[in-house]
Amino acid sequence: MLRIAPSILSADFSKIGQEVQELESAGADWIHVDVMDGHFVPNITIGPLVVESIRPYTSLPLDVHLMIENPEAYISNFVDAGADLITVHAEACTHLHRAIHLIKGLGKKAGVVLNPATPLSAIEHVVHELDLVLLMTINPGFGGQKFIESMLPKIKQLREISNHQGLNLDIEVDGGINKKTAPLVVEAGANVLVAGSAIFNHENKKEAIAQLRV
Ligand code: DX5
Ligand code: ZN
Repeated sequence: MLRIAPSILSADFSKIGQEVQELESAGADWIHVDVMDGHFVPNITIGPLVVESIRPYTSLPLDVHLMIENPEAYISNFVDAGADLITVHAEACTHLHRAIHLIKGLGKKAGVVLNPATPLSAIEHVVHELDLVLLMTINPGFGGQKFIESMLPKIKQLREISNHQGLNLDIEVDGGINKKTAPLVVEAGANVLVAGSAIFNHENKKEAIAQLRV
């Protein structure tokens, strides 16, 4: 099933509750929350307090993308704040298997994110334990960057691995997703599409979300 997860990174943070409500009425399936610490990526954004404050504004799953160093130390804070799904970067976890089990042990869905330059082999020994894999299609840190085309074979290969192992994995893609790139990633095997600028730069969010459903 194809899911659209608008990223609130491109939202107006002075009225974030209203923005999240609007995304839900516009047909979003999940709300994607980009957490950045100024170390793992060169930008600082959202912490658990913001997640907690948007939680009452939507019943949609909150998909929390942790672009932070030492994510294990903050997982329980984000769970308490209302996250439904937590993704950690393989590059940021010294003990990736432990981080995954920490998330699952708290009753939440667990995913691993790979930067464009990180090979799929980084998750070879944990993939069967995951609910989701998030493949970055830009280098993380900012919205509005250009989709990296060479990620298409990576998506395809991961879908083949999932099929081969009978995993029924959710494959999420993040970065540069718009009405032109959405059909390409879906064709390659992605089924969860994150989009920030393509939705927030459009005057009609409902139309923008509908355009990504291919
Ligand atoms: C970037 C974030 C993305 C970002 C995507 O590091 O992980 O979720 O918001 O923005 P667009 O859709 O504009 O590329
Ligand atoms: Zn993201």
